[in-house]
Amino acid sequence: MSGIITVTAPVNIAVIKYWGKRDEDLILPLNDSVSATLDTNVMCAKTSVCARPDINENEIWLNKLKEPFNNKRLQNCLGEIKGIARAQKSVDEEFLSWNVRIYSENNFPTAAGLASSAAGYACLVTALAKLYKVKTDISALARLGSGSACRSVYGGFVRWHAGVKPDGSDSVATQIVNSLHWPEMRVLVLVVADTKKHTSSSKGMQCSVATSELLKYRVQNSVPKRVNDICKAIKDKNFATFAEITMKDSNQFHAVCLDTYPPCVYMRDVSHKIVEVMHKYNEICGQTKVAYTFDAGPNACLYLLEKDVPEVIALIKKVFPTTKQDFVKGLPESLEGFPEIPDF
Ligand code: DP6
Repeated sequence: MSGIITVTAPVNIAVIKYWGKRDEDLILPLNDSVSATLDTNVMCAKTSVCARPDINENEIWLNKLKEPFNNKRLQNCLGEIKGIARAQKSVDEEFLSWNVRIYSENNFPTAAGLASSAAGYACLVTALAKLYKVKTDISALARLGSGSACRSVYGGFVRWHAGVKPDGSDSVATQIVNSLHWPEMRVLVLVVADTKKHTSSSKGMQCSVATSELLKYRVQNSVPKRVNDICKAIKDKNFATFAEITMKDSNQFHAVCLDTYPPCVYMRDVSHKIVEVMHKYNEICGQTKVAYTFDAGPNACLYLLEKDVPEVIALIKKVFPTTKQDFVKGLPESLEGFPEIPDF
């Protein structure tokens, strides 16, 4: 009988987006990507696992609901970890023959473009690796569950190296800087809609790889330089450069989504309004104080420094109503009356 292993893993928010695979089964990306991992407990997944002889079949519970275990990625992760455990002889064969029970919860909307699969799989493989006592690169295991999950196994700023090897052994995440490097950095998540997205990231990127000319350009010409430049900006704590690259990459990613046929439309009118407002704010401030980025959904993640948080929150509250009902009613036509920024 095993004890119960419980692990939490945070969400990561990409500033250079992963979009497109070169291998669907091994989940190998076309390009490197870069993200920041949020503090644990802010937006995170919590997963408990155990293996027991009296569990009749493998079970997974997601947000209190029992889900079928026939998900290929889930089975790949479990199979890979058990295979490593067998090779490393880290647990005995009897233990390996028992079924597992997995219980996982997110403390934020699932599948709404808020990186839920990233936190979920990072959490799951970490818990299973502990359960089976395997010693291996956890990021490579997490990648088998969901590509972006490999970045959530480290804190701070993280780079997922696309790698070149067909077996994917060099497609792993590494930490660029740890979470203490840029303590002033903050992320605000603006939830535009917390409903499930129409087209999953996996399907959307598959369609982009098949149809988008712009994706080819992005992978070859834009991303390599951006990755190098943003890694330097992060190390140098150069916010203006970091922010500009982040916004350009988000915009190009969504341009690729529109260049996909049929197009993947993830951003909504409110999302575009957020883009407009943040550019206007930076312009009025005479410097770049805030950067937006959008994943495969309408919700905005804003990167900014701690000193600017109160003013940006005040701006958001002024421009965008805060209750759900107000969101449904729509947005004010102008920013009139916002006291701190009179010219707006
Ligand atoms: C837009 O990691 O969810 O959030 O590997 O198919 O599971 P799969 O896709 P997933 O894609 C995330 C895409 C993104 C950008 C990013 O996080 O880099």
